[in-house]
Amino acid sequence: MPIEIQVVADADALAREAALVVTGVVAERPDAVVLAATGNTPIGCYAELARLRATGSLDTSRMRVAQLDEYVGLAADDARSLYGWMDRALLAPLGIGSERVVRMPVEGNDPQAAARAYDAAIEAIGGIDLAILGLGPNGHLGFNEPPASADAPTRVISLAPETLASNARYWGDGTVPERAITAGMSVILSARRVMLLVSGTPKAAILDRMLRSAPDAALPASHLRGHPDTILIADRDARPAGSLEA
Ligand code: GLP
Repeated sequence: MPIEIQVVADADALAREAALVVTGVVAERPDAVVLAATGNTPIGCYAELARLRATGSLDTSRMRVAQLDEYVGLAADDARSLYGWMDRALLAPLGIGSERVVRMPVEGNDPQAAARAYDAAIEAIGGIDLAILGLGPNGHLGFNEPPASADAPTRVISLAPETLASNARYWGDGTVPERAITAGMSVILSARRVMLLVSGTPKAAILDRMLRSAPDAALPASHLRGHPDTILIADRDARPAGSLEA
């Protein structure tokens, strides 16, 4: 199946359309498992979901969330962790308690074992119904830095220089941790539905490359072209050509 592409006017429209996809999935399956990206791109979608919940259009009382990625070496309660970010942007506004979250472990001295435990936990809850993803500046998904094959498991990785540079904006004066743990490409591609959100001029070139590339480890997001049910929602700044063709 080719990727379904929806080009919308701007970031606000992207947030609304993306939230509609999520509400559709949760309406169909109230205890849906949603793999949720952090980063700037999905913030508007998460805020819209909170608004829909507040107005009674979305019931999140059974919805479950899985964390997509996390820095290694932070304390579990470090506010700069991606879990902290996700808690503020998504879990708290949607009233999703930690008992309904598959958290990416960061502590402990065996992160590779923790990665395997995460994959086992995802399998144990029946897999992922919807993966909400952003697009990294080098084509990464989660922290699947290139090269990443389609069958890459959840694992510890060293962040690419461009990712460290891009994520420095979230760290103020602090140094971005150099290692992270990411849901593997195999986990992402096993999601029953994938929604990739891309916004803004800085993402236009990498999105264009992704849509022209055959599935290729050098551009991890291109693996979505082999996924059976992926929707891409991009705003005009990210997809100026506005082509409906993948
Ligand atoms: C980060 C995260 C991804 C995110 C991507 C894009 O490094 N690991 O989960 O989707 O890069 O981030 P943003 O939406 O802020 O551009």
